[in-house]
Amino acid sequence: MKATAKAHTNIALIKYWGKRNEELILPTNNSLSITLDGFHTITNVSFKEELTNDVFYLNDSFVQGEQADRVTKFLNLVRDLAGRYVFAEVKSVNAVPTAAGFASSASGFAALAAASTKAVGLNLSDEQLSRLTRQGSGSACRSIYGGFAEWQKGEKEDGSDSFAVPVVAKDHWDIRVAAVVLSSKMKKVSSRAGMKRTVETSPFFKGWVESIPADLQSIKEGILERDFTKVGEIAEANCLKMHATTLGASPPFTYWLDTTVTVMQTVKQLRDSGIPAYFTIDAGPNVKVLYLPEYEVQIKQALQSIQGVADVKLSRVGQGITYLGDEDFA
Ligand code: ADP
Ligand code: DP6
Ligand code: CO
Repeated sequence: MKATAKAHTNIALIKYWGKRNEELILPTNNSLSITLDGFHTITNVSFKEELTNDVFYLNDSFVQGEQADRVTKFLNLVRDLAGRYVFAEVKSVNAVPTAAGFASSASGFAALAAASTKAVGLNLSDEQLSRLTRQGSGSACRSIYGGFAEWQKGEKEDGSDSFAVPVVAKDHWDIRVAAVVLSSKMKKVSSRAGMKRTVETSPFFKGWVESIPADLQSIKEGILERDFTKVGEIAEANCLKMHATTLGASPPFTYWLDTTVTVMQTVKQLRDSGIPAYFTIDAGPNVKVLYLPEYEVQIKQALQSIQGVADVKLSRVGQGITYLGDEDFA
C-alpha cells in the first residue's frame, strides 16, 4: 500500500489559461508543453489503516490548510476509483520552488497521482492517469509524458475526453530551456485564481480563446519540422497574449516584475545579435528562454549578467513519470 514516484515540471508553449468547468478542471483551450528535466517532485504515498485522516508533508514540513486540502481532495478521487477507503501519509519533496510560477503544481500532482494510484493497487494507462491527474492541477496532466505533450481539452462535460497525449517521440528534438530565476517567492495570485478572474472579467479572454487553434496547428508543424524560429515565434506570441488577458481583468493584475521585462528585452537583443532565443512566462515573474544546444554558453552568460537575476537553470527535455523504490525516497 505504498509507492514512490517522480515527475518533472513542464513549460507550456501554448498556454492553458481558463477553465470551462472548475470542479472537473476542464479547460477552455488545448495547450502544449515541453517536460523539463531540470525541475521535479518526488512523492511517497503510504495508505495506512490506522490513520484517521490524510497527512501531508512538503519538503519535510507538516502542511495544513489549502495545500493539504487539495491533496485530500485528489486522494478522494483515487479512493473512489479504487473503491478503497483508507487514509494516506503523503511525503513530497519539490526540487522546484513551490507556487512561484515554476509549475510545482504540475510536477506535484503528477507525482502524487502516479504514487497514489500505484500504492492503492490501480494499474492505469497513461491516458487514464493523465485524465485523473488533470483533476489535481490542469497543467499536471501533461507531465505524465516526457517531451512535447498536448492536453486535448475534450468536448464532453464529464471530462472523459480531456487528457494529454504525446506529440512526438521524447527524443525527437534536443531543444533547451533556460529558467531565469528572478523571484522564488509564493505568488500573490495563484494560477487557479488568476485564470478564474480572467475568464470572469477580462474582455480580452474571448480573443485569447479564438486565437488558440491557429497557434496550435502552426506550432505542431514547427515541432515536427524542428523549425526553431517558427516554434519560438508562436510560443512567445502565445505567452504575450495570455499575459495581456490579465491586464484586462477586473481588478487588473500582472505576474510580471520590472526585471521580467528586462529579461524579455535581453532575449530580443540576443536575437538581434544573431543568437536564436525566445521567451515564455507562466503565471509568475520568472522567464523561461528557449534555445538550441549550440548557443548554450552565450545564452547562459547573457542571462546571468542581467541585474536582478538570481539564477539561471538550464533544462533539457525531460522524461515522463517514473516509479522509484521506496528506499530512493530521501
Ligand atoms: P505553480 O506555478 O508552482 O504551479 P500554482 O499556483 O499553480 O503554482 O500551484 C501551487 C500549488 O500546487 C501549491 O500551493 C500546492 O497547493 C500545490 N503543490 C505544489 N507542489 C506540490 C506537491 N509536491 N504536492 C502536492 N501539491 C503541491
Ligand atoms: C500559466 O495548472 O497551475 O502555467 O489547473 O488551477 O491547478 P490549476 O492551474 P495550473 O495553471 C497553469 C497555468 C500556466 C499555463 C500552463 O501551464 O499551461
Ligand atoms: Co501550477
